[in-house]
Amino acid sequence: MSPLEIRPATVADLPFITEIYEHAVRYGTATFELIPPDLAEMKRRFGALMDGGFPYLVAIVEGRVVGYAYASPYRPRPAYRFTVENSVYLQPAVHRRGIGLQLLQKLIDECEPRGYRQMIAVIGDSANAGSIGVHSRCGFQMIGTHPNVGFKFGRWLDTVMMQRGLGEGARTLPADETN
Ligand SMILES: CC(C)(COP(=O)(O)OP(=O)(O)OC[C@H]1O[C@@H](n2cnc3c(N)ncnc32)[C@H](O)[C@@H]1OP(=O)(O)O)[C@@H](O)C(=O)NCCC(=O)NCCS
Repeated sequence: MSPLEIRPATVADLPFITEIYEHAVRYGTATFELIPPDLAEMKRRFGALMDGGFPYLVAIVEGRVVGYAYASPYRPRPAYRFTVENSVYLQPAVHRRGIGLQLLQKLIDECEPRGYRQMIAVIGDSANAGSIGVHSRCGFQMIGTHPNVGFKFGRWLDTVMMQRGLGEGARTLPADETN
């Protein structure tokens, strides 16, 4: 396989990202979306993350976008401001070649200097061994399972919560915050 490049995503990558996510929505249970968002909606989501200063990365093999990962706010209320949620999606053709692992590790590396202290994975479907495996390899711990909270493809689906500290985690207080 040709060398893997991981770099920040740009607007020009979004048609490829939209296609990768469309496949995941239509055929997979990692995401609980049911209707694939179109390019305009993916641009809107990308713009919101860029405005918030969140990292958004693409994986390139042989000049093509084969996967992406980004961090986003875990929840909107302000006390959650040091916690991010992560997302990582690859084209099915490149699964199990170490790309997900490298994307996720690089995303962690991008989040730490931004001052985030916890990263949470909300993994759709407790049968998603690939996602649980890649998060375990990146140092995430299993927090627990919300059973049967989703319904897709005619069956109930769990979410699996995994979490990892970033940087100093909870060992220190954030430098410029008192609340
Ligand atoms: C989850 C996903 C990102 C993993 O990326 P990947 O490149 O396929 O995984 P990697 O090759 O980097 O795997 C790294 C490690 O994770 C574990 N792992 C990965 N896939 C696995 C699987 N299907 N079963 C069990 N363990 C697995 C293994 O420990 C693996 O290391 P190894 O190959 O040396 O044994 C990818 O499969 C994907 O895009 N899946 C569909 C979308 C999705 O589920 N996204 C996550 C949303 S929370």
